[in-house]
Amino acid sequence: RLAEKDAYDVVLVDIAEGMPQGKALDISQAGPVCGYSTRVVGTNGYAETAGSSVAVITSGIPRKPGMSRDELLATNAKIVKSVVSELVSRSPDIILILVTNPLDAMVHVARLVSGLPKSRIIGMGGILDSARMRSFIAAELNVPGPDVQAMVLGGHGDTMVPLPRYTTVKGTPVSDLMPKDKLDAIIQRTRDGGAEIVGLLKTGSAFYAPSASAVDMVEAIHKDQKRVMPCSVLCEGEYGLKHVIVGVPVRIGRKGVEEIVEYDLAVDEQAALEASANAVRELCAAV
Ligand code: 2OP
Repeated sequence: RLAEKDAYDVVLVDIAEGMPQGKALDISQAGPVCGYSTRVVGTNGYAETAGSSVAVITSGIPRKPGMSRDELLATNAKIVKSVVSELVSRSPDIILILVTNPLDAMVHVARLVSGLPKSRIIGMGGILDSARMRSFIAAELNVPGPDVQAMVLGGHGDTMVPLPRYTTVKGTPVSDLMPKDKLDAIIQRTRDGGAEIVGLLKTGSAFYAPSASAVDMVEAIHKDQKRVMPCSVLCEGEYGLKHVIVGVPVRIGRKGVEEIVEYDLAVDEQAALEASANAVRELCAAV
């Protein structure tokens, strides 16, 4: 997806010998047909990443059917720890976008290992969860997906906090457009959205919507868009949350996180966000 934007030099890193090199060739060879000339390099090391401005870290094992994201904690913490230190030692100005699960805890690991300021460590969860909710609403109402706006806060896990009050179709609140039971079913399907795909694929988790969401973040950084997107970042007092990583609306620009935007939350929304933050706290303590 990054290569298709024709705006980046892309380095693919994986431990599997030949795999990133093969993918890089394949993606490069699509360029003449698709109209991009992005330089894509595949490697099993990190030398080629030196001087990177952004890294998207997806390394780790995915869930198997029936597993929660949290069950990946110990294995993926080790992997992310090593990947982050390899990257940061070669690219001191890098901005890290974490995708590996359990997402919020991996942002915590990246913080511990990298020593980077909190503005340069961002987790991709809320954009994906919001995209799932938008797509379900679009299908239910038979409207174009891009016309639907949604906001899902909280940890990227079973305690995520979809906000129907901030969910609209071309400005109309979604609650005016569908009965409550339909909306409640969509909220639950959004919470289970990753697991639904894991259950169908059986040997991996989602690719297309997560990659689209991560690339949206890369673009917001690269183009200094200052867009507000739900991302997992360290909160230090915002939303009344003290020193915890959780999904909140974040203004993203060239420097990474420029601001955490504080929406007015209803009492039940605030309580759900705090419960989600507490679930993340427990995982981070386990790390
Ligand atoms: C998902 O929700 C893998 O966490 C990612 O699909």
